[in-house]
Amino acid sequence: MSRKLRVYPQTTPLRGTITVPGDKSVSHRSIMLGALANGKSYIRRWLPAGDPRSTLQIFRQMGVNIAVQENSATSWDLEIDGVGLHGLQPSDRALDSRNAGTCIRLLAGIMAGQNFSSILDGSEQLRNRPMRRIIVPLQQMGANIRSSNDKAPLYIEPAELQPITYELPVASAQIKSCVLLAGLYVNGTTRIVEPGPARDHTERMLTAMGVDVQTNGNTISLTPPSELRPLDLTVPADISSAAFPLIAAAIIPHSEITIENCGQNETRTGILEILEMMGAELTVTNQQVTGGEPAADLAITFSEMHGANIGGEVVVRAIDEFPILAVALSQAAGKSTVRDAAELRVKEVDRISVLAGELAKMGVTMDEHPDGFTIEGPIHLQGAEVESHDDHRLGMSLAVAALAANAPTIIGEANCVADSFPGFVETMNALGARMEWLD
Ligand code: S3P
Repeated sequence: MSRKLRVYPQTTPLRGTITVPGDKSVSHRSIMLGALANGKSYIRRWLPAGDPRSTLQIFRQMGVNIAVQENSATSWDLEIDGVGLHGLQPSDRALDSRNAGTCIRLLAGIMAGQNFSSILDGSEQLRNRPMRRIIVPLQQMGANIRSSNDKAPLYIEPAELQPITYELPVASAQIKSCVLLAGLYVNGTTRIVEPGPARDHTERMLTAMGVDVQTNGNTISLTPPSELRPLDLTVPADISSAAFPLIAAAIIPHSEITIENCGQNETRTGILEILEMMGAELTVTNQQVTGGEPAADLAITFSEMHGANIGGEVVVRAIDEFPILAVALSQAAGKSTVRDAAELRVKEVDRISVLAGELAKMGVTMDEHPDGFTIEGPIHLQGAEVESHDDHRLGMSLAVAALAANAPTIIGEANCVADSFPGFVETMNALGARMEWLD
């Protein structure tokens, strides 16, 4: 199914207080680790988006009982009957991660430690994404994992795993987490050296489950327990989803919005630091801890922003926000350059060249670099017919750009926004936007 979204130019300010759905990274991990625990895990405000639903489906397929209470289209409560580290059941069908890179890469770490074979697969889009980054460390641990051209499908056979010390070639939470999860199935301590601080949700969740995970500077070490304690957590709102209404309010004159109980893990707050660097009017209040993760209310008001040079360690802490940040930079005064962000080229799509192509249709000149881009703003955006390329964050970024355009914009294949943000359109409209599905 492919649906088009029409977005009208925003002639009134965006106003109001909203919540956005639960964190996608935490939601994936809560299923995986809840399934491997001994006993019942309780997960509240779980994100029922396309990506984590793949994870939920896969663990059900491996015999895990997961009871769902659908509180709304954007928030489910789960009760996961953990089967223990060695209780998963083989499946005669491939485990289908669909579009979810986090699902397949973390799952590979778990499946490498099982005493049965599995096939890990996904959509055409996922089959194009690099898997060598997880195959290499898993093979170093002794895993029996095969693929053709280092792409999905991945064929995993049982093997005895050994602990390794692995220096990550890129700062990536997916690679780090894959190795840590495989590390639950070795005798001894697994060590990972990170080049920079990638999101640490796996470490936090494992710690809450009683696992000995130590972080010392750039080195993380994990010594596996005999069993995992179950989880009891409320998922904080996803800062990566919050970024869309936040930046919409930052660029639409006189807007003023608040997003409640939003994740503030400092491995994820790079976008807030960048917006502040650009002169955004941002206030953080009501700080709390939700599900072992810091969270807070975020308020933003429209302001005239200026461009910025963005590079270095903040990039990985804002890695999913660059498509929407490009929209913010197009509305900021002056030249902005993004560097050190080559990873954007291996996300759902090449988020540098595909975004440049789509934003060009709206009048934006985005000069590409191998590891980033340059934009000079402010640019008067034009309404256009654009495509999401089945990338949720591109779809939402184009929808926010469309609010600042001079005429209506139509976004093709926009239903993919529900891969991470079910209710995106309703949430934006609750703030006063005018977005409508065309079919
Ligand atoms: C994620 C890690 C990041 C991020 C992705 C979610 C995770 O990917 O882009 O959306 O949940 O671990 P990389 O590890 O490939 O940077």
